[in-house]
Amino acid sequence: MSEKALADSPVALLECRRINKSYNGPMVLSEVDFSMKRGEIHALVGENGAGKSTLIKIVTGVTNRNSGEMLFEGRPIGIEHSKTAAQVLGIAVIYQELSLIHGMSVAQNLFLTREPRLPGLPFIDIGKMNSLAQELIDRYGFTLKATDVIDSLSIAQRQTVEILKALNSKASLVIMDEPTSSLTSTESAQLFGIIKRLKEDGIGVLYISHRMEEVYALSDRVTVLRDGRKVAVLEKAEIHPEEIIRLMIGRKLDDRDSVHTMRKSDREVVLEVKGLSSEGKFSGIDFQLHAGEILGIGGLVGSGRTELVRALYGIDPHDSGSVEYLGKPWEPGVAGSIRGGFGFIPEERRLQGIMGLISMTGNIGITNIDVIRKMGFVSDRKELDLARKAIGLLNIKPADPSVLVGNLSGGNQQKIVVGKWLIRDLKLLIVDEPTVGIDIGAKEEMYQTFARLAEAGVSIILVSSDLPELTRISHRILVLRKGRIIKEFSEGQVTEEDVLKASSGILPGGAK
Ligand SMILES: Nc1ncnc2c1ncn2[C@@H]1O[C@H](COP(=O)(O)OP(=O)(O)OP(=O)(O)O)[C@@H](O)[C@H]1O
Ligand SMILES: [Mg+2]
Repeated sequence: MSEKALADSPVALLECRRINKSYNGPMVLSEVDFSMKRGEIHALVGENGAGKSTLIKIVTGVTNRNSGEMLFEGRPIGIEHSKTAAQVLGIAVIYQELSLIHGMSVAQNLFLTREPRLPGLPFIDIGKMNSLAQELIDRYGFTLKATDVIDSLSIAQRQTVEILKALNSKASLVIMDEPTSSLTSTESAQLFGIIKRLKEDGIGVLYISHRMEEVYALSDRVTVLRDGRKVAVLEKAEIHPEEIIRLMIGRKLDDRDSVHTMRKSDREVVLEVKGLSSEGKFSGIDFQLHAGEILGIGGLVGSGRTELVRALYGIDPHDSGSVEYLGKPWEPGVAGSIRGGFGFIPEERRLQGIMGLISMTGNIGITNIDVIRKMGFVSDRKELDLARKAIGLLNIKPADPSVLVGNLSGGNQQKIVVGKWLIRDLKLLIVDEPTVGIDIGAKEEMYQTFARLAEAGVSIILVSSDLPELTRISHRILVLRKGRIIKEFSEGQVTEEDVLKASSGILPGGAK
């Protein structure tokens, strides 16, 4: 059959019928139907814990379904499916948790177990492997070297390697579980280009994302899951933001204005930063933070935002400048920060701060050990109370504190990392990209929590690339560019576009 005839043939690329799944407990998927065509970009959406990753794991043979039928290119896939079988069929997947092998090069990861051999010899032809890998990289225009070692790459670059791995395996279905959550906007744009190219090549792309704008822009069809059930399949013409959200969470979200009013605080200064600099990262940073104020920090990825907040919390040193906290000189350091009532929610939460083999209670308890320990003894009751509080605050599912964190959905794991800080008695909370990977309903809950904390007098520094989020919840916004504060929005109205322009160095009056 020709490519064209294949694409038009009535046989679906992937067909799942009445899929049921439970992991030795409640049903995670119930009677789910799901279908994909060749050359289709299909988005799978739903709240954290809705069952998206589980459905994908079933298709890719990582876990087995309890019942239901599955067909790939018209051929049935048995219940005893496996990862290798899926690969052989031509199903490739890029997971939420990256799966590259450290200590090896990009080329080695791309050709793992399929390395080209020297003719007639059992040895790997390293030269050929590297040049094939480089060809693939260049064909898609990535800025990587075949010989780069994984450990030296940023998270975003590692993700591009994952994508290349899928492309290299000649798949006819490529599955991406939140591929853009750690990509910069340029890298995301590149990825969208790649996805469209895959589509042109007749490859089906199954796409999971909590970034709704992406879903609208990219998808040919959208399947919505809620609590393990398929609630709708929308065709291109039916894809409307409000409708998808309503289907996902079962209610409507308030309309939000696109113009936001900044306000100066007249409350006492909690933190004063003067001339803070760190060679190659940021320089000459001056600002004051007031009690109960939410100070947003905008800027492009790489503008020094994360570096700045890490230095303020005392994880990384700074070279010069000074900090005052509550009117006294303050030398940033992690132990002192914790004692002083700072909380810090870091950006790369997938790598930090979660212990998968320990329960939610244990994970929350460890961060709050100072609160739950009295005279050397840990209070189990207090620990459990804290866990319940975090679960309630962010609507973590399942709401059972004894569940191992490794068994939670990706978004619910994120909520644990955020939640274990929000329940502390804090004076100053620093959050770096707090809602990446978190569904739209839970985002709202988190914003309300930030607002409540601020009302109670807690000062918050919010680093965010999510412009609606930044403009909506900040009282005041600093924009960083190339390590310096290029603009402050402290009064009057501000739009997302204003912040984006400043981030890119475009200032009113043509100044740069
Ligand atoms: N290995 C496991 N053992 C037990 N329960 C699990 C396991 N993996 C997932 N679950 C449960 O299955 C449900 C669905 O999880 P899944 O990871 O499929 O959600 P998701 O839609 O991908 O969510 P997210 O947007 O947060 O990534 C959740 O309630 C989760 O706790
Ligand atoms: Mg998931």
